[in-house]
Amino acid sequence: MRIRIENLKGIATMLQNSKKCDFLSGKSMENWDMMKSAYIEIESGYIHDFGKMSDCPKSNSNIRIINGTGRFLLPGFIDSHTHLVYHSDRSGEFNLRMHGSSYEEIASSGGGILNSAKKMQDSDEDELLELLLERLDKSKSTGTTAIEIKSGYGLTLDSETKILRVIQKAKSQVPQKIWATFLGAHALPASFNGDHDSYINEVCLKMLPSIADKGMIDFVDIFCEKNYFSPKHIDQLSTSASKYNIPLKAHVNQFNSIGGIQAAINNSAWSVDHLECLTKEDLNDLIVAFKNELKRKPIPVALPGCSFFLDLPFAPAREIIDSNLPLAIASDCNPGSAPSSNLMLCWSLACHKMKLTPKEGLASLTANASYALGAQEEIGSISKGMIANLILTKPISSFAYLPYSFGENNIEKIFINGK
Ligand code: NIG
Ligand code: FE
Repeated sequence: MRIRIENLKGIATMLQNSKKCDFLSGKSMENWDMMKSAYIEIESGYIHDFGKMSDCPKSNSNIRIINGTGRFLLPGFIDSHTHLVYHSDRSGEFNLRMHGSSYEEIASSGGGILNSAKKMQDSDEDELLELLLERLDKSKSTGTTAIEIKSGYGLTLDSETKILRVIQKAKSQVPQKIWATFLGAHALPASFNGDHDSYINEVCLKMLPSIADKGMIDFVDIFCEKNYFSPKHIDQLSTSASKYNIPLKAHVNQFNSIGGIQAAINNSAWSVDHLECLTKEDLNDLIVAFKNELKRKPIPVALPGCSFFLDLPFAPAREIIDSNLPLAIASDCNPGSAPSSNLMLCWSLACHKMKLTPKEGLASLTANASYALGAQEEIGSISKGMIANLILTKPISSFAYLPYSFGENNIEKIFINGK
């Protein structure tokens, strides 16, 4: 049955002069069309039509009407960067940090990612799935309608495969679209005694072939950082992944600028994520990359939840957008550096701490997040024929109220595939 939402205060289309773009960059992140006083029709999982109330066709008994008075309609949020499969939280480490230890100190004494990896080895697969389904439900309640999930707390073939199997199983149990990313190169297991090169060989020559042959992944990822993995390791991972046609994403510039952006660009990465520590040269290289005729451009992805939680600088989002680049925002939800999947809150942080406007913030959570996953033809904006993944807000005074009211969840209904 067709659904029509009538009398909406506004539809946040993400269109530019009624046209859909691959992504929104620079001023277009602010200038997308907000259609005021509008209706939308959804049928068979897709957006059938939308327009001004003054052009709304007469209703008939085959249309279910929903009252949109005072409410806004947004594209569903898309979370392009999460680590949702883990066993236990790391609130103990948080407590240590609040007593003065640093994230790096905790990691180098066997905590951090290695702590999560140790727990993962003995975790029961069914329990992990149950935990993942709970987390997916929680993220959906704050507007996430499609989501990328990384492995990376396994660090052995068996354990990484277990995580990816759990993601696979979740795909058939929830309505949200899910992408799986292999992040074997997340940290060096202690058993490799500081030998990063040998571990990357293991990732590329043993783990990746086995996982890729099973068709379990959509992307590979790597943590490029001092004491973790180098730009050279990005080259090696990307070369191996390209044999299976699997694109690269990369964690770069979280604490240090060590050439990760340049390696990601050279390897046609689909996104460069974190960017808390971005030099002028890094920014310039991104600007050049976006001017070139590349088939895929490495969209910058900021993770404000991680900056908030670890008290790091926020990615220089203002400079990125003012340089006419696009920006996406994701939750980075994980037990160590960002234990929240709440993209409504990330929207607030983007405005309050990274100085985005409310419209720029929404563009980075929808159209641009969709581009980071290559899904821009299907989701992330509101136009005819797109999948009906939508957020209907509660009645609110203005669009800006959504990021203004930080910590609130002003969502009334979420549609995924029109349901
Ligand atoms: O994206 N930076 C690397 N990985 C995660 C954090 C991992 C952890 O502390 O468990 C991130 O922030
Ligand atoms: Fe991450």
